[in-house]
Amino acid sequence: MVNLKWKGKEEREDILSKNNETMHFQIHDIYPSINISPTSEQVWQNLLIRGENKAVMKVLLKKFENKITLIYIDPPFATGGDFNLKVQLGEEGKYLESIAYKDKWREGLDSYLNFLYERLVLMKILLAGKGSIYIHLDWHISHYIKLIMDEIFGIENFRNEIIWGYPAASVKTRRFFIRSYDTILFYSKSDDYIFNDDPNIYMEYSSRVKNALKKDEKGIFYYRGGSHNGKKLSRKVYIEQEGIFPRDVWNDIPYIRANTPEYQGFSTQKPERLLKRIILASTNEKDLVADFFCGSGTTLAVAEKLGRYWIGCDLNRHAIHITRKRILNISRSNDILNWKKRYCKDPENFQILSFEKKDTLISLPNVFLQKDVQDEKGYQTKEIPDLNVKIHQSNNKIMIELLDYIIPFNDLLADKIKENIKSFLDFIDYWAIDFNSQNNIFKAMWYSYRTPKVRVLPLKSDTYYYDKSGDYNILVKTIDIFGIESVKSYKIKII
Ligand SMILES: C[S@@+](CC[C@H](N)C(=O)[O-])C[C@H]1O[C@@H](n2cnc3c(N)ncnc32)[C@H](O)[C@@H]1O
Repeated sequence: MVNLKWKGKEEREDILSKNNETMHFQIHDIYPSINISPTSEQVWQNLLIRGENKAVMKVLLKKFENKITLIYIDPPFATGGDFNLKVQLGEEGKYLESIAYKDKWREGLDSYLNFLYERLVLMKILLAGKGSIYIHLDWHISHYIKLIMDEIFGIENFRNEIIWGYPAASVKTRRFFIRSYDTILFYSKSDDYIFNDDPNIYMEYSSRVKNALKKDEKGIFYYRGGSHNGKKLSRKVYIEQEGIFPRDVWNDIPYIRANTPEYQGFSTQKPERLLKRIILASTNEKDLVADFFCGSGTTLAVAEKLGRYWIGCDLNRHAIHITRKRILNISRSNDILNWKKRYCKDPENFQILSFEKKDTLISLPNVFLQKDVQDEKGYQTKEIPDLNVKIHQSNNKIMIELLDYIIPFNDLLADKIKENIKSFLDFIDYWAIDFNSQNNIFKAMWYSYRTPKVRVLPLKSDTYYYDKSGDYNILVKTIDIFGIESVKSYKIKII
């Protein structure tokens, strides 16, 4: 049994004993609108959670111990670098590069190992008996994490070290061989785990084999070959499909490029086809898939398209917002089982949660700021932008129009932002309405958002028709280019 030591290693019992009894999730948004009444049977809703994943998992333990069939994570790799995401501005869509996450470990390797170790211990508890975990890393740290995984999951549950190879970007070094692959460590929780031989996970034959394949009169593929007693033959050898069961070296999945339709402007975004193979192999329909470092939401989008339930978590507000829009826009994305077609289905219900009901402290990174106000921590403020709307009412019909969006820190903004903001609407990236809010929970009954390609945002909502007379509470929510959420509430009377 491996037992590793490093500076500051937490004992398993300590990780679990400091429980977050007092922490609870607050619901920010519910999509699409459904009524949840405490008396009705609750329908499952996929969960997108903004927060530090250790705290998030501790809260999830209460409900999801042994419940998650697949966990895929793509955490920071201890590279020492910063990683970017693109923040697009207004209708023209010009962008700034903002920091998605920092991968610098000032207290050294031990602090990184401790960071991941604590989280992996929690993930094992969340994983179902037949479940599996895939950890996406690279040469920086994968060998350390392999040993840590052997300690937590047991070497007997190690299944594969998957090598995902991709053509390296042009690298100038001539001091060592060019690094051009990531490592994905695959462990199951036990020996009795789900692993599907699904033709959709197969790798294509090499072009040499594909060129040698022929189709018979029934359309079935064969090649000429085979052998008998060491002698080569030239008989028809039939194959069942155009592909082979995957090896552990995956070089058939290209890296994401800025011109690929799935690109969300997230620099460390992983390809949907990578997740397709993992999810199809290690889960069945309606199983629960989780990604606690979800970034732009690749795992969740693929789980959604494959009819799996999902939980995603990230601490970055931009990552959560990119994921929200990616899921809302999923019907226009590629069908994962038939890439040339669109998916053409709306997403299942999902909720966005975090530990705070409202944004209380806004932290603006330096990229948004004038030089003279830049600081190591960026700019911190408690002042949330203010939103102004007009409610157009005619009998039982309501339409809402955005009138203004006032940014309290406008003077501090970098010139590059100011130059590209032609009207207040350019600050807004998304807006939504709950025409009948109860308990101040926001059901997104109407929403509109900019995507990386479609940048137009309407000033006016669709018209909503009320069936019954009464007093109603309307909530209007905006999310701006800084990822800041503002909500305003209005009372109306329908006679
Ligand atoms: C490599 S990216 C994931 C990219 C993702 N696989 C995709 O396809 O877009 C890692 C993500 O982990 C998030 N992250 C880092 N530390 C975290 C933590 N302690 N809790 C939650 N999220 C974290 C970062 O904000 C970042 O979005």
